[in-house]
Amino acid sequence: MSQTVQLIIDNKTYELPVITGTEDEKAIDISKLRDLTGYVTLDIGYKNTGATKSAITFLDGEVGILKYRGYPIEQLAGQSSFLEVAYLLIYGALPSKDQIKDFQAKINHHTLIHEDMKKFFDGFPSNSHPMGQLTALISSLSAFYPESLNSVQSKEDVDLTIIKLLAKMTTIVSWIYKKSLGHPVIYPQNKYDYVTNYLHMTFGQRTEDVVIDPVVVDAMNVLLILHADHEQNCSTSTVRIVGSSEANLYSSVSAGISALWGPLHGGANQAVIEMLEKIKADGGDTDKWIAKAKDKNDPFRLMGFGHRVYKNFDPRAKIIKKACDDILEKLGIDDEVLEIAKRLEEVALKDPYFIERKLYPNVDFYSGIIYRALGFPTEMFTVLFALGRLPGWIAQWKEMKENKEPIGRPRQIYVGAVDQDYVDIEKR
Ligand code: ACO
Repeated sequence: MSQTVQLIIDNKTYELPVITGTEDEKAIDISKLRDLTGYVTLDIGYKNTGATKSAITFLDGEVGILKYRGYPIEQLAGQSSFLEVAYLLIYGALPSKDQIKDFQAKINHHTLIHEDMKKFFDGFPSNSHPMGQLTALISSLSAFYPESLNSVQSKEDVDLTIIKLLAKMTTIVSWIYKKSLGHPVIYPQNKYDYVTNYLHMTFGQRTEDVVIDPVVVDAMNVLLILHADHEQNCSTSTVRIVGSSEANLYSSVSAGISALWGPLHGGANQAVIEMLEKIKADGGDTDKWIAKAKDKNDPFRLMGFGHRVYKNFDPRAKIIKKACDDILEKLGIDDEVLEIAKRLEEVALKDPYFIERKLYPNVDFYSGIIYRALGFPTEMFTVLFALGRLPGWIAQWKEMKENKEPIGRPRQIYVGAVDQDYVDIEKR
Protein backbone atom coordinates (compact mmCIF):
# COMPACT_ATOMS: atom_id res chain seq x y z
CA MET A 1 0.00 0.00 0.00
CA SER A 2 1.32 3.44 -0.87
CA GLN A 3 2.36 5.56 2.10
CA THR A 4 0.75 8.90 2.89
CA VAL A 5 1.23 11.62 5.48
CA GLN A 6 -1.49 13.63 7.14
CA LEU A 7 -1.52 17.39 7.19
CA ILE A 8 -3.97 19.11 9.52
CA ILE A 9 -4.99 22.69 8.73
CA ASP A 10 -7.81 24.35 10.71
CA ASN A 11 -8.89 20.95 12.05
CA LYS A 12 -9.24 19.54 8.55
CA THR A 13 -7.03 16.55 7.67
CA TYR A 14 -5.46 16.13 4.24
CA GLU A 15 -3.69 12.99 3.03
CA LEU A 16 -0.56 13.67 1.00
CA PRO A 17 1.24 10.93 -0.94
CA VAL A 18 4.82 9.95 -0.05
CA ILE A 19 7.20 9.37 -2.95
CA THR A 20 10.14 6.99 -2.38
CA GLY A 21 13.20 7.07 -4.62
CA THR A 22 15.29 4.04 -5.64
CA GLU A 23 17.85 4.91 -2.95
CA ASP A 24 15.02 5.09 -0.42
CA GLU A 25 14.89 8.87 -0.34
CA LYS A 26 11.48 10.05 0.78
CA ALA A 27 9.47 13.09 -0.28
CA ILE A 28 6.02 14.39 0.53
CA ASP A 29 4.24 15.08 -2.74
CA ILE A 30 2.70 18.53 -2.37
CA SER A 31 1.90 19.04 -6.05
CA LYS A 32 -1.86 19.24 -5.26
CA LEU A 33 -1.44 21.15 -1.98
CA ARG A 34 -2.60 24.54 -3.24
CA ASP A 35 -5.63 23.09 -5.04
CA LEU A 36 -6.61 21.10 -1.94
CA THR A 37 -5.89 23.62 0.81
CA GLY A 38 -5.18 27.06 -0.69
CA TYR A 39 -1.75 26.97 0.96
CA VAL A 40 1.69 26.93 -0.69
CA THR A 41 4.95 25.89 0.97
CA LEU A 42 7.71 28.39 1.75
CA ASP A 43 11.28 27.18 1.39
CA ILE A 44 13.68 30.02 0.67
CA GLY A 45 16.80 28.68 -1.01
CA TYR A 46 14.97 25.38 -1.76
CA LYS A 47 16.73 23.67 1.14
CA ASN A 48 13.93 21.08 1.48
CA THR A 49 12.35 21.13 -1.93
CA GLY A 50 12.70 18.38 -4.52
CA ALA A 51 12.24 20.10 -7.87
CA THR A 52 12.15 16.96 -10.01
CA LYS A 53 12.44 13.16 -10.13
CA SER A 54 15.79 12.40 -11.75
CA ALA A 55 17.59 9.18 -12.75
CA ILE A 56 20.98 10.80 -13.41
CA THR A 57 22.90 11.46 -10.20
CA PHE A 58 22.45 10.31 -6.63
CA LEU A 59 24.19 11.90 -3.74
CA ASP A 60 23.85 11.33 -0.02
CA GLY A 61 25.33 14.32 1.74
CA GLU A 62 25.08 12.78 5.21
CA VAL A 63 27.17 9.73 4.31
CA GLY A 64 29.26 11.30 1.54
CA ILE A 65 28.13 9.22 -1.47
CA LEU A 66 28.06 10.35 -5.08
CA LYS A 67 27.02 8.13 -8.00
CA TYR A 68 26.35 8.87 -11.68
CA ARG A 69 23.65 6.53 -13.06
CA GLY A 70 24.37 4.21 -10.11
CA TYR A 71 28.16 4.03 -10.66
CA PRO A 72 30.24 5.28 -7.68
CA ILE A 73 32.30 8.37 -8.43
CA GLU A 74 35.40 6.60 -7.07
CA GLN A 75 35.17 3.91 -9.80
CA LEU A 76 34.44 6.39 -12.58
CA ALA A 77 37.28 8.73 -11.57
CA GLY A 78 39.67 5.79 -11.24
CA GLN A 79 38.79 3.82 -14.36
CA SER A 80 36.89 5.76 -17.03
CA SER A 81 37.53 8.70 -19.33
CA PHE A 82 35.65 11.99 -19.24
CA LEU A 83 34.03 11.28 -22.58
CA GLU A 84 32.76 7.89 -21.35
CA VAL A 85 31.26 9.62 -18.32
CA ALA A 86 29.68 12.26 -20.56
CA TYR A 87 28.07 9.49 -22.63
CA LEU A 88 26.88 7.73 -19.47
CA LEU A 89 25.26 10.87 -18.09
CA ILE A 90 23.63 11.96 -21.34
CA TYR A 91 22.48 8.63 -22.77
CA GLY A 92 21.99 6.66 -19.54
CA ALA A 93 24.42 3.72 -19.99
CA LEU A 94 28.16 3.15 -20.33
CA PRO A 95 29.08 3.09 -24.02
CA SER A 96 30.35 0.01 -25.87
CA LYS A 97 33.66 0.29 -27.77
CA ASP A 98 31.78 1.08 -30.99
CA GLN A 99 29.50 3.59 -29.31
CA ILE A 100 32.36 5.59 -27.76
CA LYS A 101 34.28 5.51 -31.07
CA ASP A 102 31.24 6.82 -32.89
CA PHE A 103 30.60 9.46 -30.20
CA GLN A 104 34.22 10.67 -30.36
CA ALA A 105 34.14 10.75 -34.19
CA LYS A 106 30.90 12.77 -34.25
CA ILE A 107 32.33 15.24 -31.74
CA ASN A 108 35.61 15.59 -33.65
CA HIS A 109 33.60 16.36 -36.76
CA HIS A 110 32.14 19.46 -35.07
CA THR A 111 35.02 20.98 -33.06
CA LEU A 112 35.57 23.90 -35.42
CA ILE A 113 33.55 27.03 -34.82
CA HIS A 114 32.13 29.22 -37.57
CA GLU A 115 34.75 31.79 -38.65
CA ASP A 116 32.12 34.55 -38.34
CA MET A 117 31.71 33.57 -34.72
CA LYS A 118 35.45 34.10 -34.33
CA LYS A 119 34.90 37.76 -35.27
CA PHE A 120 32.43 38.04 -32.42
CA PHE A 121 34.98 36.39 -30.11
CA ASP A 122 37.72 38.79 -31.33
CA GLY A 123 35.55 41.71 -30.16
CA PHE A 124 35.98 40.92 -26.45
CA PRO A 125 38.74 42.85 -24.68
CA SER A 126 41.60 40.39 -23.99
CA ASN A 127 41.44 41.15 -20.26
CA SER A 128 37.68 40.54 -19.91
CA HIS A 129 36.67 37.80 -17.47
CA PRO A 130 36.66 34.36 -19.18
CA MET A 131 33.25 33.51 -17.65
CA GLY A 132 31.66 36.61 -19.19
CA GLN A 133 33.05 35.57 -22.57
CA LEU A 134 31.98 31.95 -22.12
CA THR A 135 28.36 32.68 -21.28
CA ALA A 136 28.02 35.05 -24.26
CA LEU A 137 29.79 32.71 -26.69
CA ILE A 138 27.71 29.68 -25.72
CA SER A 139 24.49 31.65 -26.05
CA SER A 140 25.64 32.97 -29.45
CA LEU A 141 26.00 29.41 -30.76
CA SER A 142 22.21 29.48 -31.28
CA ALA A 143 22.73 32.31 -33.79
CA PHE A 144 25.40 30.43 -35.74
CA TYR A 145 23.78 26.97 -35.53
CA PRO A 146 20.05 27.73 -35.83
CA GLU A 147 18.94 24.07 -35.96
CA SER A 148 19.19 24.31 -32.15
CA LEU A 149 16.02 26.43 -32.26
CA ASN A 150 14.08 23.35 -33.40
CA SER A 151 14.80 21.62 -30.13
CA VAL A 152 11.09 21.42 -29.28
CA GLN A 153 10.09 19.44 -32.37
CA SER A 154 13.04 17.53 -33.74
CA LYS A 155 14.96 14.77 -31.95
CA GLU A 156 17.62 14.79 -34.70
CA ASP A 157 18.24 18.50 -34.15
CA VAL A 158 18.47 18.00 -30.40
CA ASP A 159 21.02 15.20 -30.91
CA LEU A 160 23.06 17.34 -33.30
CA THR A 161 22.98 20.30 -30.92
CA ILE A 162 24.23 18.11 -28.05
CA ILE A 163 27.19 16.91 -30.14
CA LYS A 164 27.99 20.42 -31.39
CA LEU A 165 27.86 21.88 -27.90
CA LEU A 166 30.22 19.23 -26.47
CA ALA A 167 32.56 19.69 -29.43
CA LYS A 168 32.64 23.47 -29.62
CA MET A 169 32.92 23.95 -25.86
CA THR A 170 36.54 22.66 -25.88
CA THR A 171 37.46 25.00 -28.74
CA ILE A 172 35.78 28.00 -27.12
CA VAL A 173 37.29 27.35 -23.66
CA SER A 174 40.82 26.95 -25.02
CA TRP A 175 40.50 30.00 -27.27
CA ILE A 176 39.40 32.14 -24.33
CA TYR A 177 42.59 31.06 -22.55
CA LYS A 178 44.77 31.80 -25.60
CA LYS A 179 43.18 35.21 -25.91
CA SER A 180 43.96 36.03 -22.26
CA LEU A 181 47.64 35.46 -23.10
CA GLY A 182 47.42 37.48 -26.31
CA HIS A 183 48.44 34.33 -28.23
CA PRO A 184 47.03 33.10 -31.52
CA VAL A 185 44.34 30.46 -31.19
CA ILE A 186 45.14 26.83 -32.04
CA TYR A 187 42.74 24.84 -34.18
CA PRO A 188 41.48 21.39 -33.11
CA GLN A 189 43.02 18.20 -34.49
CA ASN A 190 40.86 15.15 -35.06
CA LYS A 191 43.60 12.66 -34.21
CA TYR A 192 43.24 13.49 -30.50
CA ASP A 193 40.72 12.28 -27.94
CA TYR A 194 38.40 14.83 -26.32
CA VAL A 195 40.57 15.86 -23.38
CA THR A 196 43.89 15.74 -25.27
CA ASN A 197 42.40 17.85 -28.07
CA TYR A 198 41.32 20.42 -25.52
CA LEU A 199 44.81 20.44 -23.91
CA HIS A 200 46.41 20.63 -27.36
CA MET A 201 44.38 23.78 -28.17
CA THR A 202 45.20 25.18 -24.71
CA PHE A 203 48.91 24.45 -24.37
CA GLY A 204 49.86 23.81 -28.02
CA GLN A 205 51.72 26.34 -30.14
CA ARG A 206 51.57 27.22 -33.81
CA THR A 207 55.35 27.31 -34.11
CA GLU A 208 56.26 23.90 -32.70
CA ASP A 209 54.73 20.54 -31.79
CA VAL A 210 53.95 20.40 -28.10
CA VAL A 211 53.50 16.93 -26.62
CA ILE A 212 50.91 16.95 -23.87
CA ASP A 213 52.22 15.16 -20.77
CA PRO A 214 50.04 12.07 -20.05
CA VAL A 215 50.15 13.06 -16.36
CA VAL A 216 48.34 16.26 -17.29
CA VAL A 217 45.82 14.41 -19.47
CA ASP A 218 45.04 12.00 -16.61
CA ALA A 219 44.69 14.81 -14.07
CA MET A 220 42.38 16.72 -16.39
CA ASN A 221 40.22 13.63 -16.97
CA VAL A 222 39.80 13.12 -13.22
CA LEU A 223 39.01 16.78 -12.58
CA LEU A 224 36.42 16.91 -15.34
CA ILE A 225 34.78 13.63 -14.23
CA LEU A 226 34.49 14.89 -10.64
CA HIS A 227 32.68 18.00 -11.87
CA ALA A 228 30.49 16.29 -14.49
CA ASP A 229 27.21 16.37 -12.56
CA HIS A 230 25.94 17.13 -9.10
CA GLU A 231 22.16 16.82 -9.31
CA GLN A 232 19.95 19.87 -8.63
CA ASN A 233 22.53 22.52 -7.66
CA CYS A 234 22.19 26.23 -8.47
CA SER A 235 23.49 26.10 -12.08
CA THR A 236 21.77 22.81 -12.97
CA SER A 237 18.44 24.00 -11.59
CA THR A 238 18.95 27.13 -13.69
CA VAL A 239 19.53 25.05 -16.84
CA ARG A 240 16.39 23.01 -16.14
CA ILE A 241 14.21 26.00 -15.34
CA VAL A 242 15.36 27.96 -18.39
CA GLY A 243 14.93 24.86 -20.56
CA SER A 244 11.45 24.31 -19.12
CA SER A 245 10.29 27.36 -21.08
CA GLU A 246 11.39 25.39 -24.19
CA ALA A 247 14.41 27.65 -24.62
CA ASN A 248 17.10 25.98 -26.74
CA LEU A 249 20.00 24.02 -25.27
CA TYR A 250 22.64 26.70 -25.94
CA SER A 251 20.74 29.45 -24.12
CA SER A 252 19.78 27.12 -21.26
CA VAL A 253 23.42 26.11 -20.74
CA SER A 254 24.55 29.73 -21.09
CA ALA A 255 22.21 30.60 -18.20
CA GLY A 256 23.74 27.73 -16.19
CA ILE A 257 27.21 29.15 -16.85
CA SER A 258 26.09 32.51 -15.45
CA ALA A 259 24.74 30.79 -12.33
CA LEU A 260 27.99 28.87 -11.93
CA TRP A 261 30.06 32.06 -11.99
CA GLY A 262 29.19 33.22 -8.46
CA PRO A 263 31.75 32.66 -5.68
CA LEU A 264 29.24 30.66 -3.62
CA HIS A 265 29.04 28.11 -6.44
CA GLY A 266 31.58 27.40 -9.21
CA GLY A 267 33.41 30.67 -8.64
CA ALA A 268 34.61 29.21 -5.33
CA ASN A 269 37.65 27.60 -6.98
CA GLN A 270 38.90 31.03 -8.05
CA ALA A 271 37.96 32.47 -4.67
CA VAL A 272 39.98 29.75 -2.85
CA ILE A 273 43.23 30.63 -4.61
CA GLU A 274 42.60 34.36 -4.19
CA MET A 275 42.03 33.76 -0.48
CA LEU A 276 45.21 31.66 -0.16
CA GLU A 277 47.23 34.33 -2.02
CA LYS A 278 45.81 36.97 0.33
CA ILE A 279 46.77 34.93 3.39
CA LYS A 280 50.26 34.41 1.95
CA ALA A 281 50.69 38.15 1.26
CA ASP A 282 49.52 38.83 4.83
CA GLY A 283 52.32 36.70 6.29
CA GLY A 284 50.64 33.26 6.19
CA ASP A 285 49.11 33.36 9.69
CA THR A 286 46.33 30.76 9.24
CA ASP A 287 45.08 31.08 12.83
CA LYS A 288 44.28 34.74 12.23
CA TRP A 289 42.19 33.89 9.14
CA ILE A 290 40.42 31.00 10.85
CA ALA A 291 39.44 33.45 13.61
CA LYS A 292 38.14 35.88 10.98
CA ALA A 293 36.05 33.11 9.38
CA LYS A 294 34.48 32.37 12.77
CA ASP A 295 33.77 36.00 13.61
CA LYS A 296 30.11 36.77 12.80
CA ASN A 297 30.92 40.48 12.49
CA ASP A 298 33.49 39.75 9.80
CA PRO A 299 32.13 38.91 6.33
CA PHE A 300 35.16 36.68 5.59
CA ARG A 301 34.34 32.99 4.97
CA LEU A 302 36.79 30.19 4.47
CA MET A 303 36.34 29.66 0.74
CA GLY A 304 36.27 26.01 -0.31
CA PHE A 305 34.77 24.98 3.04
CA GLY A 306 31.18 23.93 3.58
CA HIS A 307 28.57 22.61 1.22
CA ARG A 308 24.82 22.91 1.01
CA VAL A 309 24.39 19.15 0.73
CA TYR A 310 27.51 17.39 2.04
CA LYS A 311 27.40 17.51 5.80
CA ASN A 312 29.93 14.72 6.37
CA PHE A 313 32.58 14.96 3.69
CA ASP A 314 32.60 15.69 -0.03
CA PRO A 315 33.59 12.38 -1.71
CA ARG A 316 34.98 14.35 -4.64
CA ALA A 317 37.30 16.22 -2.25
CA LYS A 318 38.80 12.91 -1.07
CA ILE A 319 39.63 11.84 -4.64
CA ILE A 320 40.86 15.24 -5.69
CA LYS A 321 43.03 15.67 -2.61
CA LYS A 322 44.95 12.53 -3.59
CA ALA A 323 45.10 13.63 -7.25
CA CYS A 324 46.42 16.98 -6.04
CA ASP A 325 49.25 15.41 -4.01
CA ASP A 326 50.11 13.07 -6.93
CA ILE A 327 50.23 15.73 -9.60
CA LEU A 328 52.28 18.18 -7.54
CA GLU A 329 54.75 15.42 -6.83
CA LYS A 330 54.87 14.22 -10.46
CA LEU A 331 55.30 17.74 -11.79
CA GLY A 332 57.81 18.51 -9.03
CA ILE A 333 55.91 21.57 -7.83
CA ASP A 334 56.62 23.07 -4.44
CA ASP A 335 53.94 25.69 -3.86
CA GLU A 336 53.77 27.85 -0.73
CA VAL A 337 50.09 28.44 -1.34
CA LEU A 338 49.55 24.69 -1.06
CA GLU A 339 51.34 24.66 2.30
CA ILE A 340 48.95 27.37 3.51
CA ALA A 341 46.00 25.33 2.21
CA LYS A 342 47.19 22.26 4.11
CA ARG A 343 47.65 24.26 7.33
CA LEU A 344 44.20 25.83 7.00
CA GLU A 345 42.62 22.45 6.44
CA GLU A 346 44.42 20.91 9.40
CA VAL A 347 43.44 23.70 11.80
CA ALA A 348 39.84 23.97 10.57
CA LEU A 349 39.19 20.24 10.80
CA LYS A 350 40.08 20.29 14.51
CA ASP A 351 38.21 23.48 15.34
CA PRO A 352 34.81 23.05 17.13
CA TYR A 353 33.28 25.87 15.03
CA PHE A 354 33.84 23.91 11.82
CA ILE A 355 33.12 20.51 13.41
CA GLU A 356 29.78 21.65 14.90
CA ARG A 357 28.66 23.17 11.60
CA LYS A 358 29.92 20.19 9.61
CA LEU A 359 32.13 22.37 7.44
CA TYR A 360 34.60 20.26 5.47
CA PRO A 361 36.78 21.10 2.48
CA ASN A 362 34.76 20.78 -0.73
CA VAL A 363 35.95 19.83 -4.21
CA ASP A 364 36.88 23.42 -4.98
CA PHE A 365 39.34 23.64 -2.13
CA TYR A 366 41.71 21.42 -4.13
CA SER A 367 40.70 21.87 -7.77
CA GLY A 368 42.16 25.39 -7.90
CA ILE A 369 45.50 24.15 -6.60
CA ILE A 370 45.68 21.55 -9.39
CA TYR A 371 44.62 24.03 -12.09
CA ARG A 372 47.29 26.39 -10.85
CA ALA A 373 49.92 23.61 -10.96
CA LEU A 374 48.88 22.87 -14.55
CA GLY A 375 49.55 26.50 -15.42
CA PHE A 376 46.02 27.91 -15.69
CA PRO A 377 45.46 31.52 -14.61
CA THR A 378 43.04 31.92 -11.69
CA GLU A 379 40.30 33.51 -13.80
CA MET A 380 40.10 30.36 -15.97
CA PHE A 381 39.23 28.05 -13.07
CA THR A 382 35.46 28.48 -13.19
CA VAL A 383 35.53 28.06 -16.96
CA LEU A 384 37.19 24.68 -16.41
CA PHE A 385 34.45 23.80 -13.95
CA ALA A 386 31.93 24.65 -16.69
CA LEU A 387 33.78 22.40 -19.17
CA GLY A 388 33.46 19.54 -16.68
CA ARG A 389 29.82 20.27 -15.79
CA LEU A 390 28.67 20.50 -19.41
CA PRO A 391 27.61 16.81 -19.81
CA GLY A 392 25.61 17.07 -16.57
CA TRP A 393 23.77 20.18 -17.76
CA ILE A 394 23.03 18.52 -21.10
CA ALA A 395 21.81 15.31 -19.42
CA GLN A 396 19.57 17.26 -17.03
CA TRP A 397 18.13 19.44 -19.81
CA LYS A 398 17.47 16.32 -21.93
CA GLU A 399 15.84 14.49 -19.03
CA MET A 400 13.63 17.49 -18.23
CA LYS A 401 12.44 17.53 -21.87
CA GLU A 402 11.94 13.77 -22.06
CA ASN A 403 9.93 13.85 -18.82
CA LYS A 404 7.80 16.61 -20.39
CA GLU A 405 8.15 18.70 -17.26
CA PRO A 406 5.96 21.83 -17.07
CA ILE A 407 7.45 25.30 -17.10
CA GLY A 408 9.14 26.07 -13.76
CA ARG A 409 7.25 28.76 -11.92
CA PRO A 410 7.60 28.99 -8.12
CA ARG A 411 5.03 30.77 -5.97
CA GLN A 412 5.82 33.40 -3.33
CA ILE A 413 4.42 34.92 -0.17
CA TYR A 414 3.86 38.59 -0.78
CA VAL A 415 5.03 40.77 2.14
CA GLY A 416 4.95 44.22 0.49
CA ALA A 417 2.74 47.24 0.91
CA VAL A 418 -1.02 46.81 0.57
CA ASP A 419 -3.39 49.24 -1.19
CA GLN A 420 -1.42 52.43 -1.63
CA ASP A 421 -2.89 55.37 -3.56
CA TYR A 422 -0.75 57.07 -6.19
CA VAL A 423 0.60 60.47 -5.05
CA ASP A 424 1.54 63.09 -7.61
CA ILE A 425 5.31 63.65 -7.83
CA GLU A 426 4.94 67.31 -6.81
CA LYS A 427 3.36 66.28 -3.51
CA ARG A 428 5.86 63.57 -2.48
N1 ACO B 1 33.44 29.71 6.54
C1 ACO B 1 32.96 30.07 7.74
N2 ACO B 1 31.72 29.81 8.19
C2 ACO B 1 30.89 29.14 7.36
C3 ACO B 1 31.31 28.74 6.08
C4 ACO B 1 32.63 29.04 5.67
N3 ACO B 1 33.07 28.68 4.45
N4 ACO B 1 30.27 28.10 5.45
C5 ACO B 1 29.26 28.11 6.32
N5 ACO B 1 29.62 28.73 7.47
C6 ACO B 1 28.79 28.88 8.68
C7 ACO B 1 27.71 29.93 8.48
O1 ACO B 1 28.15 31.21 8.90
C8 ACO B 1 26.61 29.38 9.37
O2 ACO B 1 26.96 29.64 10.70
P1 ACO B 1 25.78 29.90 11.81
O3 ACO B 1 24.98 28.64 11.84
O4 ACO B 1 26.53 30.21 13.08
O5 ACO B 1 24.99 31.09 11.29
C9 ACO B 1 26.71 27.86 9.18
O6 ACO B 1 28.09 27.63 8.85
C10 ACO B 1 25.82 27.32 8.05
O7 ACO B 1 26.12 28.02 6.85
P2 ACO B 1 25.07 28.37 5.71
O8 ACO B 1 25.60 29.51 4.91
O9 ACO B 1 23.70 28.52 6.32
O10 ACO B 1 25.07 27.04 4.86
P3 ACO B 1 24.54 26.91 3.39
O11 ACO B 1 24.24 25.45 3.22
O12 ACO B 1 23.46 27.89 3.13
O13 ACO B 1 25.81 27.36 2.49
C11 ACO B 1 27.82 27.29 1.24
C12 ACO B 1 26.68 26.47 1.86
C13 ACO B 1 27.22 28.43 0.36
C14 ACO B 1 28.62 26.38 0.31
C15 ACO B 1 28.69 27.89 2.37
O14 ACO B 1 29.24 26.84 3.14
C16 ACO B 1 29.82 28.79 1.83
O15 ACO B 1 29.59 29.98 1.62
N6 ACO B 1 31.05 28.22 1.63
C17 ACO B 1 32.14 28.96 1.04
C18 ACO B 1 31.97 29.08 -0.47
C19 ACO B 1 32.25 27.76 -1.18
O16 ACO B 1 33.24 27.10 -0.92
N7 ACO B 1 31.36 27.42 -2.13
C20 ACO B 1 31.52 26.22 -2.97
C21 ACO B 1 30.46 25.24 -2.71
S1 ACO B 1 30.81 23.77 -3.61
C22 ACO B 1 30.28 24.08 -5.17
O17 ACO B 1 29.46 24.87 -5.47
C23 ACO B 1 30.94 23.30 -6.20
